[in-house]
Parts: sequence; C-alpha cells; structure tokens
Amino acid sequence: MKSILLLITTFVSIVTLSASCVNNNKQDLLNASACDTSSVKYSTIIAPIMTNYCTNCHGGSSPSANIDLEGYTNVKTYVDNGKLWGTMNHDNGYSAMPQGTGKLDACTLNKLLAWIHAGALNN
Ligand code: HEC
Repeated sequence: MKSILLLITTFVSIVTLSASCVNNNKQDLLNASACDTSSVKYSTIIAPIMTNYCTNCHGGSSPSANIDLEGYTNVKTYVDNGKLWGTMNHDNGYSAMPQGTGKLDACTLNKLLAWIHAGALNN
C-alpha cells in the first residue's frame, strides 16, 4: 500500500513539474513577443538608449575617448564604422560597452539592430 501511494505521489509531482515547464516556455514566448522591434526610431528609442547608457561618459565637454554620442550625426558616425554595434554587442576586437556594467538586455540590443538594419535613419 505504501509503495502505491509513493508511486501516485511521484506521478503527480512529475505531471505538476512538466506542466510548470510548459508554462515557463509560454512565458518566455510572451516575453520574446513583448519586445517590439517593428517601429524603432532614432528619436523615440535610440537617442534615449544613448542618454541612458552612453552619454554620461560619451557626451558633454570632454567625452571619453573623444567619442561623442550626443545627437544623430555623431551616433551615425559610429553606426557606419561598426563601432556602435561592435562595442554594445561585445564583439571581439571592440571594447565592451557600456564600460563597467554588463551587456545591455537582448530586447534593447535587438531594437538597436533593427534600427541599424533599417538604415539607421534620423526619424
Ligand atoms: C563609464 C563610462 C563609459 C560609458 C557609460 C560608456 N563608455 Fe564607451 N568608452 C569609455 C572609455 C573610457 C573608452 C576608451 C577606453 C576603451 O576603449 O575601453 C570608451 C570607448 C568606447 C568606444 C571606442 C571603443 C573601440 O573599440 O574603438 C566606443 C565606440 C564606445 N566607447 C561606445 C560606447 C557606447 C555605445 C556606450 C553606451 C552603450 C558607451 N560607450 C558607454 C567609457 C564609457
């Protein structure tokens, strides 16, 4: 009798565990679809990313490494030479940015990439 009870308990917990696994996957998919990369504009998305993560060093009167990331024209320069994406994606051969903190989250990087692929427009 005891072993039957044990069997049932084991079965129930396996079913519960796999159900929660399915739910986790659903949640991941929901989170993934919550990252909207369809209408990324310089003014609404990219400039705020620069302000939040970059221009405290790369802005003002003496920007770090003499790299100024304030304003579209400056940012576009580093899109075109590959350094904006290279540093932010932590690619080999580039200094990892933002300096001193971790890589930005995947959604932010996906938005940046979508904007670059769409021509890095001043929109
Ligand atoms: C805490 C200050 C700080 C922050 C924040 C920061 N940087 Fe930098 N960055 C530096 C310094 C200092 C250097 C020069 C030393 C080096 O290359 O590591 C540099 C170098 C760079 C370079 C040239 C690196 C190369 O490989 O040629 C680029 C491009 C750059 N940063 C972009 C960014 C971007 C984009 C952000 C925001 C996502 C950012 N940085 C955030 C301090 C910072």
